[in-house]
This record gives sequence, C-alpha cells and structure tokens, in this order.
Amino acid sequence: MKILVIGSGGREHALVWKLRQSSRVSQVYCAPGNGGICQEAECVPADVKSLESLVAAAQRVQPDLTVVGPELPLSLGVVDEFTKRGWRAFGPTRAAAQLEASKTFAKEFMQRHRIPTAHYAVCTSPAEIKDALGHFHLPVVVKADGLAAGKGVVIAKTKDEASAVAVDMLSGKLVGEAGSRVVLEECLQGEELSFLVVSDGERVAPLMAAQDYKRAEDGDTGPNTGGMGAYSTDDIIDAKMRDWLVAHIARPVVEGMKSEGMEYRGVLYCGLMMTATGPMVLEFNCRFGDPETQPILMRLESDLVSAMEAALEGRVSDGDFKWSPQPAVCVVLASGGYPGTFTAGKKILGLERAGQASGVKVFHAGTSFQDGVYYSTGGRVLGVTARADTLGEAVQRAYATVSGIGFEGMHYRTDIAARAVRS
Ligand code: AMP
Ligand code: GLY
Repeated sequence: MKILVIGSGGREHALVWKLRQSSRVSQVYCAPGNGGICQEAECVPADVKSLESLVAAAQRVQPDLTVVGPELPLSLGVVDEFTKRGWRAFGPTRAAAQLEASKTFAKEFMQRHRIPTAHYAVCTSPAEIKDALGHFHLPVVVKADGLAAGKGVVIAKTKDEASAVAVDMLSGKLVGEAGSRVVLEECLQGEELSFLVVSDGERVAPLMAAQDYKRAEDGDTGPNTGGMGAYSTDDIIDAKMRDWLVAHIARPVVEGMKSEGMEYRGVLYCGLMMTATGPMVLEFNCRFGDPETQPILMRLESDLVSAMEAALEGRVSDGDFKWSPQPAVCVVLASGGYPGTFTAGKKILGLERAGQASGVKVFHAGTSFQDGVYYSTGGRVLGVTARADTLGEAVQRAYATVSGIGFEGMHYRTDIAARAVRS
C-alpha cells in the first residue's frame, strides 16, 4: 500500500514513522513534509492551504490512502475533494470539521446534545460584548470563533481587558476573519486532558489519553502556544473515567453529528478540563493533536493503517488499538521568540547522536535538511520523545537527549510531566 500524509509538523513526522512500521505499507509520501520527515518518506511539494495543490500532489503519487494531519485542509474540504474523486482519505468532511473550525458551531452543537461544556455567549458587536460581559464572573475567557493557530484564546482578568480583546478580535486586528464572531466563556479550573478517539461515523475507539503543556514557560506561565510538550500514561485516567468520556462525550458527539447529517469520520480530539464537578469540553479538534500524537503513537503497538481503514469502512471497534504499558513523554524544542515572532534558519547541532539514544525518537516539526545539515524553519522545531518503564525514566531519557541538542535561541520547558512524576 502507498500512503500519503498531508502536513509538515511533528505530528506528521510521528504519523509517517508509525505508518511505515505497518507490514502492509510499501511506500510513504508526505506533502510537503520537513527535513526530518524526508529521511523517512518521499516528500512531495504542496501547499496545505490549497486544495488544488493537494489534489495535484495526490495525482502524482497515487496513494491508496491519504491521512490528513492539520485542521486547515480539513476545514477547506480536502476529504470531500478526494472522496469525490474516489480516493480514500482519513479525516472528517468540511461540514464535520466545523466542530473545530467554528467555536460557535461547537458550542451550539454541545448545547443541542447536552454535552458538558462551560457557559458561553456568542457576540458579533461591541454592544453585544458589553451586554454579555455583565453576565460573567472573572476571569472570563475570550475566544475567536474561527481557526487562529493557537492565538484565538485569551483569559482576561478584568472586564476592561476582556472587552478590549474582544473588540480587537471583532475588528479583525487580532486574528483576521477568525475573529468576526467572538465567544465569551466561563473560565474553568482543573487539569486539562486530551482525549482522542477514532470514529467511523457511528462507533468510536479511544486512544490513550494525554496531557498537553500549552503555556510557553515552566510552571504554566507565559503565553499560550501550540503545545510545548505532552505525556501519556496508562493511569492518566482510569478505565471508569475512560468509559464515562466515551459514553457522555465522544459517542454523543458522533451520534449527534450523524443525526444532523454530518457523519464524523476520522480522529475526534476532545480537549477537556477535569473540573471538581466533572469533565467539561473546552474544544474539539478534528485531527490528531500536536504534540500529543508523538507520545501517543510511541505507545501504540498495533497497526495504525488497519485502524484507519476500519474507520473508513464503518467497522471501528474498541479493540482496534493495542498499547504498550510504558509511559511516553515529548519535550518540544522551540525557536527563539516562539510563540511570538521567531528566528529561523539556525543550524541544529547534535541530531546524529540524539538519533542513537535508546527508547528515544526525535520528531522533526520545523526543520529543513540541506547538504547534510539540519536548519530550523518553524516556531516548534523538534519533539524529543521517549518511552520507558516508568514516567520518571521516560522524562529522564527525553531530557538527557535534549541536553545534547542545540541551536541558537533554542528554548524548552524543563517541567514536562514533572507534576505527574511527583505524584
Ligand atoms: P481552546 O483553543 O478552546 O482549547 O483554548 C486554548 C486553551 O485555553 C485551552 O487549552 C485552555 O488552556 C484555555 N481555555 C480555553 N477555554 C477555557 C475555559 N473555558 N476555561 C479555562 N481555560 C480555558
Ligand atoms: N496540542 C493541541 C492541539 O493539537 O491543538
């Protein structure tokens, strides 16, 4: 089988790495890929913002299956385009991807289907914001409706701040079109959890849960990022909680989407806050998480291609995934300035040695490879991912490898999974 992975980040590197392990796969392509991915797959130039370009890439490589990594092509309808041509593509349709692409859609959908989530108000004008803010306690969460690459959420400590951010979003100043509607939301407290399932439109099979570290600095301080690290263990949630999340969140979402004529096929990522009164949905993503996918796939022992085919063919079952009991952790190495304006084109040192560390895989997120040298090209550059018998050992392994890698301006969090190791 020939497989095409769409995307160019750490998540896509992990997908390529895992898909290549399948005995059923003869060749993996990646469009457009990155410096690290190109060592393991044949990279095909493509622009993920252009359906035309993605169709052309698939026409060139004629894959038996396409796996879509990022949300943007999904929300543009890449799966619809491919399916129309009789090509198999793993991921939700454009209509189903609205669960991620519009926060208003997601909130109204959850309300219709009684899925636990924070109280909210949708606003389209400064007057509506002023009026709605009167009904919220502080802090209050201000969210742009559309896709904003992690920059669309602000937790405001005062009503003046909330109002200023919301008005900037509405005016297009902050996140462009994505802010033409703004969602105000009650601020929830608790541990965050990334709970992902694979769905065939009716049934769901859960993946191992993970925790993502969204803030840039140690101790959950600094600005929000796409994710600075993640870990996954067997006991991050117990079996009872897993069943509850399937029964009260994942399955009702998939059933609700079907009942509204938008069958949801692919990965459904439920971003949850585990509050004192129970789990609440913060957001849905219509794809694998980044960096959660790196530790999750490092723990996966069964065939990923077969699980994806089961989703496309309507035969997903709870036993589709077999897991290693070993915990895994991913530490993201980011460019100077990230998540703001960052520096790129820096020479990366130490990758050859890092590639030899046992139980460790360095996934590339933003790199290029020229004349035998890797250079940084993105905000998130590498995801050093390790697996071991205990979470503590996995953390040690990951950071030991991190210490041998360097590029100008490199920064990373030193406390990924630390709280879980301590407890
Ligand atoms: P979202 O894109 O909606 O997941 O928001 C990004 C991040 O903002 C989340 O991962 C949380 O850390 C935070 N966040 C979003 N909504 C809330 C909320 N209602 N209460 C507290 N934190 C939130
Ligand atoms: N790590 C969060 C996300 O993939 O959206």
